[in-house]
Amino acid sequence: MSKYPYQISSFEDYQRQYKKSVENPEEFWAEIATNFQWKQPWNNVLKWDFRSAKTEWFSGAKLNITENCLDRHVLTQPDTPAIIWEPNNPEDHHRVLTYRELHFKVMQFANALKNHGVKKGDRVCIYMGMIPELAIAVLACARIGAIHSVIFGGFSAQSIADRIQDAQASAVITCDGAFRGNKSIPLKEVIDDALMSCPSVKTVIVCTHTRTPVSMIKGRDFWWEDEIKKVETQGNPYCEAESMDAEDELFILYTSGSTGKPKGVVHSTAGYMVWANYTFVNVFQYQPGQVHFCTADIGWITGHSYIIYGPLSAGATSLMFEGIPTYPDAGRFWDIIEKYKLEILYTAPTAIRSLMGFGDEPLKNRDFSNLKVLGTVGEPINEEAWNWYNEKIGHNNCPIVDTWWQTETGGVLISNLAGVTPAKPTFATYPLPGVQPVLVDENGNEILGNGVSGNLCIKFPWPGIIRTTYGDHERCRTTYFSAYDNLYFTGDGCLRDEDGMYRITGRVDDVLNVSGHRIGTAEVENAINMHAGVVESAVVGYPHDIKGQGIYAYVIYTGTHGDVNLTRQDILATVSRVIGPIAKPDKIQFVSGLPKTRSGKIMRRILRKIAEGEIGNLGDTSTLLDPMIVDEIKEGRL
Ligand code: WTA
Repeated sequence: MSKYPYQISSFEDYQRQYKKSVENPEEFWAEIATNFQWKQPWNNVLKWDFRSAKTEWFSGAKLNITENCLDRHVLTQPDTPAIIWEPNNPEDHHRVLTYRELHFKVMQFANALKNHGVKKGDRVCIYMGMIPELAIAVLACARIGAIHSVIFGGFSAQSIADRIQDAQASAVITCDGAFRGNKSIPLKEVIDDALMSCPSVKTVIVCTHTRTPVSMIKGRDFWWEDEIKKVETQGNPYCEAESMDAEDELFILYTSGSTGKPKGVVHSTAGYMVWANYTFVNVFQYQPGQVHFCTADIGWITGHSYIIYGPLSAGATSLMFEGIPTYPDAGRFWDIIEKYKLEILYTAPTAIRSLMGFGDEPLKNRDFSNLKVLGTVGEPINEEAWNWYNEKIGHNNCPIVDTWWQTETGGVLISNLAGVTPAKPTFATYPLPGVQPVLVDENGNEILGNGVSGNLCIKFPWPGIIRTTYGDHERCRTTYFSAYDNLYFTGDGCLRDEDGMYRITGRVDDVLNVSGHRIGTAEVENAINMHAGVVESAVVGYPHDIKGQGIYAYVIYTGTHGDVNLTRQDILATVSRVIGPIAKPDKIQFVSGLPKTRSGKIMRRILRKIAEGEIGNLGDTSTLLDPMIVDEIKEGRL
């Protein structure tokens, strides 16, 4: 018998569980929820109304997610490693935090936050490198009921300021700096710039890591280590876990949409916990004692759900890696797999494609014999990359789970279950129990049957569904629940094959997926337009061998400062400054106009085709205000 009574054990079991989850969802989830630790039981398993974008799971219940992630495991398996940390530099020492140690450190830091007056409901912004203190900071917030908002280290001061202001965060937790490959990133300096326009922030706690010189402002900035010492001298390491309502907000995570402004996706406590745990245990078929390596950054949802909350709530061992796959060389992931005798590797197609490019040399004489499960997430995986992953890493012996999901879904919605349900290259395959996908056409009519494609929607809530967008519930409703009546709209296109298996084909809105990172075209356009010489711009995606999608910008420019390449560099610097280096266009084409309809709307379809190189077949251009501009753009194509 599995440690997890709800771990699905065969395809027949999956079919049984799936059927039950659809026919009797409340009973289904209530049974699963009994495997968690509650301070008080729920009144209702589920209340929902998609038309007003409202979902509540286990309402009336009280709990604290950290008791589920830490305290209960400290009782039964205190010496099991909770987090193994592998540093950026392989010569530096790795760290192991057992459940007992992690529990202790989380409570200690939670008390430090309390000493600064941080309390339930306060928003705390976390901007740190991938070090264990990041996980400790996240869990310490959850311990005292503060809402964490983790911001990926690749965002600029301006982006951080926007997010801090939107959430009205009162505290920031950061590091002096972070290591990434041969670079050192000055995190505290970026925070200092951001805070010039963030009066809500009263406290900044700085953890030393790179030990680069940083400014420390009296009364505002405090060293992590000093705050911990204060807690030690106070003599009480224990920190009571705040009693949270099931629907109390656990965290905010900002993500891009089709408008210029990122939105704060909000997840609540109980439903998210159950979903992160259930999907972790079932998709990866985790067995006690295994080491799970999710290569994502905790600044993204994948890190939240499959480095921290999923694994820890299951009492698993989660490996956290500070560095990048190509430092000091392209064998780094493979070194880590060998060093820790890993069983599970969960990474992104972009990483697979990039490592594939280094050939077989970095793979020579590697021992992957412990590997049991491989996973991918973040973007569609092409067949070539899937085959390489399967043969070279899995030795045709490890199921690959192709997990489709989103920041808004909290955890995986569609994926095969490792070794339990069938896999099919490039297909996410079947929905998890509780997930009811439907395909719809542009008019919102459901497309029935198999061998069809359409826009992917979900017609029934699962426990991890988005609860709101921070500070603006109407935005949540219009973005996800109004495109099609009574359905959650994913923004993805999808096909369902003859066997009823799902294959996600990519975004159908103006959101790009660059190396698995979501970037709104409108956001990039806004950033480019901030550059002094730019009149107007239009951004589209194009196929990119490694990144999946690259960013192609068409720019109308009126400056005369140096040559074209310098101007391009200036624009890139502007985008870096406004959003961050991750949003820098791969190509910038200067144009004298953009293809617009008579009503002034940019015909992106045409720009997309040109960027993709499909210039022979641009479709109908007769509705354009100035059809000649298309020829000019075609000629200047990069
Ligand atoms: C895409 C990441 C194809 C999709 C967890 C989705 C995928 C967006 C897959 C969400 C997959 C994610 N196959 N496409 N297995 N997984 N996507 O919010 O377009 O960063 O809407 O969440 O990534 O990106 P997000």
